[in-house]
Amino acid sequence: MSPADFAASIRTIPDYPKPGILFRDITTLLGDARAFRRAVDELVQPWAGAKIDKVAGIEARGFILGGAVAHQLSAGFVPIRKKGKLPHQTVRMAYALEYGEDEIEMHVDAVMPGERVLLVDDLVATGGTATGAVKLLQTCGAAVEAACFIVDLPDLGGADKLRRAGVSVRTLVS
Ligand code: PRP
Ligand code: ADE
Repeated sequence: MSPADFAASIRTIPDYPKPGILFRDITTLLGDARAFRRAVDELVQPWAGAKIDKVAGIEARGFILGGAVAHQLSAGFVPIRKKGKLPHQTVRMAYALEYGEDEIEMHVDAVMPGERVLLVDDLVATGGTATGAVKLLQTCGAAVEAACFIVDLPDLGGADKLRRAGVSVRTLVS
């Protein structure tokens, strides 16, 4: 599928969750069987046959894609969650995003030192969330091979921020 086809399967909601935000709603893509399958296939494609130990997905929309990507790569799955949701000992990181700020957490033993990890989320905007997730993974000794997203909002600079931090980035539509 072309970037234009992916774009056509994503709905835009003006002024959600705050005035002035154009919210890119991927639930329409997820509900389209062909678009969902192709998105997962295209996110996975550069790593087919590569040794990826774990896929880390960011709550909440990154869980939907990350689980499918992990299955396709025969990798384990690591949930990166909003604060207060994980039961075991965690590492935590505060971050800013397009419409607020929050904290994400990961179990300290979710990755082993040296494990090769692919980070997955639906969308990169400012890159605050994904950069925080990369730091959590690296704090625990993981090698973050790449970060992949369906949507890039390039005006907000998140993909470039990740690249400047040394992370390879793949996105399907801008
Ligand atoms: C959205 C999106 C990313 C993040 C991107 O999640 O799914 O995780 O924002 O923004 P950033 O690049 O500026 O950090 P959100 O925080 O809205 O949470 P949700 O998935 O639980 O709705
Ligand atoms: N996360 C951050 N900015 C977003 C946007 N404009 N649409 C959907 N998710 C987002």
